[in-house]
Amino acid sequence: MSDKKCIYAALLGAGTVGGGVYRLVKKMKKEIPLRVGSELVIKKVLVKDASKHRDGIDKDVLTDNWEEIINDPEIQIVIELMGGTGIARTRILEALKAGKHVVTANKDLLAEHGEEIFSVARENNCDIQFEAAVAGAIPIIRPLMQNMAGDNITEIMGIVNGTTNYILTKMTEDKMGYHDALAVAQRKGYAESDPTSDVDGLDAARKMAIIAQLIYHTNVTFADVYKEGITSVMPDDIRYSGELGYVIKLVGVVKMTDGKVEVHVNPMLLEKDHPLATVRNSFNAIFVKGEAMDDAMFMGRGAGSLPTASAVLGDVMDVMRNIRLGCCNRVPVENYKETPILQIDEIKSKYFIRMKVEDRPGVLAEIAVVLGENAVGIANVSQKDTADGVADLLFIIEEVEEAHMVEACEAMRSLDCVYSIASVIRVY
Ligand code: NAP
Ligand code: HSE
Repeated sequence: MSDKKCIYAALLGAGTVGGGVYRLVKKMKKEIPLRVGSELVIKKVLVKDASKHRDGIDKDVLTDNWEEIINDPEIQIVIELMGGTGIARTRILEALKAGKHVVTANKDLLAEHGEEIFSVARENNCDIQFEAAVAGAIPIIRPLMQNMAGDNITEIMGIVNGTTNYILTKMTEDKMGYHDALAVAQRKGYAESDPTSDVDGLDAARKMAIIAQLIYHTNVTFADVYKEGITSVMPDDIRYSGELGYVIKLVGVVKMTDGKVEVHVNPMLLEKDHPLATVRNSFNAIFVKGEAMDDAMFMGRGAGSLPTASAVLGDVMDVMRNIRLGCCNRVPVENYKETPILQIDEIKSKYFIRMKVEDRPGVLAEIAVVLGENAVGIANVSQKDTADGVADLLFIIEEVEEAHMVEACEAMRSLDCVYSIASVIRVY
């Protein structure tokens, strides 16, 4: 056991999360040595513009020169909080190859280049820790990799994007319009700088790709995840599905189906008593089903400066313990399987359909025939608002393969009595 008085780290990035980590380390200055045995010193903070004033960050630690970090043998931990898949990837690989341990919150990078980064960490006997990359402050990476390592995880469903959960909650509970709700989410700092990443489901897809690798030990990347965002969810979908006993959430799903990894992110109708249905506003939650453990749910803040910083600092302190014990990479990410990914047209689901149809006798029968011809079964049908000879028709469809659903929709669109298929949303 090393009795190092100080362990030195460098922060790459001093934005929302990096700034939060710096402030939290200062706040916990006296406590960290009591909990870990060594003091944590942030020796350098790499930024693009080192001359810019940054609240709470000592000027003399700021640098725009990576050489001051990579060539400093005293710095043992690199905390990457710049984001993106370009320079962040280069810096992380350089740090690992130089024998420095890495902590990152970079889901974009791990969802695209995770396998490369994990293998370089293994080859160089370095830690790579990334608890903050999925659902911010919620402990989920360590539970999946350690606490649940002795179980087979059969399914994970996650609300892993705070912006979209906030928007859907406001549209549902306050009847707020989509654009107004997005503007508030941006003001509150939940949204990415380019919010299409949130609302199109890309951010959630990155997090689900990371989760999928961890539980199924096979390489799953961002490109493997089928994604649908929330921009097509209309107030009528929310209102009508609510009347049927559901709420709409953006849900990421990972499960094993017929020996293939099923992984997708899409809006989903959840029964109002499903645990994820109660997760409101910007909160995130991850619902896990295990063969032995049964059901568990993890809920908390998925974003924000200090919540995310808390997960980063927890990782850094774990690395510090490893340094003191002279060990590392005790729980590596190892993709020792090659499991195929289920294609979207093979995925089976129940569906909610909202369509605008001609309001006259016989229309329902015509539509039912088309559904039947495409092997699509109806679980529930109801007719809602009617005006000017146009009716809103709602279906809940029995579980069916996506390919059949797509063909049925094509066939229904060709009927004269069907004016539009306004929405097709999966139902859990
Ligand atoms: P951010 O506010 O945009 O901060 C990025 C920081 O990185 C800035 O300080 C910037 O320097 C620095 N930087 C960017 N490119 C650089 C370069 N080429 N060289 C040196 N410094 C560079 O980002 P953030 O919101 O803190 O996010 C950081 C990471 O955490 C991302 O991977 C993100 O996905 C992840 N994350 C964020 C949250 C959240 O709530 N924000 C939650 C979970 C995970 P300047 O200040 O000089 O521009
Ligand atoms: N934009 C993300 C969200 C931040 O809304 O959850 C955390 O990844």
